[in-house]
Amino acid sequence: MKSFKNKVIAVSGAASGIGRALVEGLLASGARVAASDVDEANLQSLREFAGAEFLLLSKVDVSEEAAVHAWAAEVKNHFGDVDGVINNAGVALSCHAAQQPRAQMEWLFNINYWGVINGVEAFLPELLRRPEACIVNISSLFGLMSVPSQSAYNAAKFAVRGYSESLRQDLRDTAVKVVTIHPGGIQTNIANNGRHLHSITGNAADVDKTAALFNSIAATTPQQAAKKIMWGMRKSKTRVLIGSDAWFLDKIQRLFPACYDRLVVPIMNVGARMALKRV
Ligand SMILES: NC(=O)c1ccc[n+]([C@@H]2O[C@H](COP(=O)([O-])OP(=O)(O)OC[C@H]3O[C@@H](n4cnc5c(N)ncnc54)[C@H](O)[C@@H]3O)[C@@H](O)[C@H]2O)c1
Repeated sequence: MKSFKNKVIAVSGAASGIGRALVEGLLASGARVAASDVDEANLQSLREFAGAEFLLLSKVDVSEEAAVHAWAAEVKNHFGDVDGVINNAGVALSCHAAQQPRAQMEWLFNINYWGVINGVEAFLPELLRRPEACIVNISSLFGLMSVPSQSAYNAAKFAVRGYSESLRQDLRDTAVKVVTIHPGGIQTNIANNGRHLHSITGNAADVDKTAALFNSIAATTPQQAAKKIMWGMRKSKTRVLIGSDAWFLDKIQRLFPACYDRLVVPIMNVGARMALKRV
């Protein structure tokens, strides 16, 4: 997708963070944007950026298959041809794997994994009709490496990566490009809105500080993340890493695929202890 001018792009999880920055960036680049989220109040506040001719706002829960299909039909009705979908909506859960209630894990999977599948399946038939089109699936640095207390999040983001890389190969002979995104820490509301039952440090006293800890170490702004994602779309990149943390830890994981945690977790814990003194 060489240019966004007059392209129609659907973005889920658009009321906050990376999704919101993507809506602003895409509108500024001349795209028409279909933005959805479960958080209707914050979604509606996007209206200040554009009128209905350029911006369609829809309340959609990505975990509901029928709702996502209805959204795809609404986008087509409103704008006509659809050129891209960014499956961005996501949530966070911190919990020790041995004590993780199945219901919490299913809550996360329904959004972070099935939400992506719902978005792909709903928009793909339309995208296959376009001369050029793009599917962007947001995985994570935690779709490349695992850390303590993130088994559900890690599993869902690894699954998004596996699904997206296979999808890309299945669509090789079509005009639909598939871009998988692996952000490191981005300064968004993901930790503030997350469910934290245990701490990444393994220390019970740190649980209530999980969001503050995340917020103090996330280095990249949502606007920088959106810019990198749009670059990946324009260049038809297959895998986009965001942030120096993602770049560095990906290298460590590749060098020591079976034991990277022996190096990364102690460093992470020292960093967390230092950051916790500040929060
Ligand atoms: N912030 C980070 O450090 C980071 C790192 C790696 C990956 N990611 C991924 O980036 C994506 C965007 O997250 P963010 O960091 O901007 O967080 P955010 O919390 O700021 O934004 C996420 C948005 O998704 C929406 N959402 C949640 N559940 C939903 C549902 N069921 N249906 C529709 N919308 C729903 C929320 O209302 C929110 O507006 C997520 O997939 C997240 O896992 C974030």
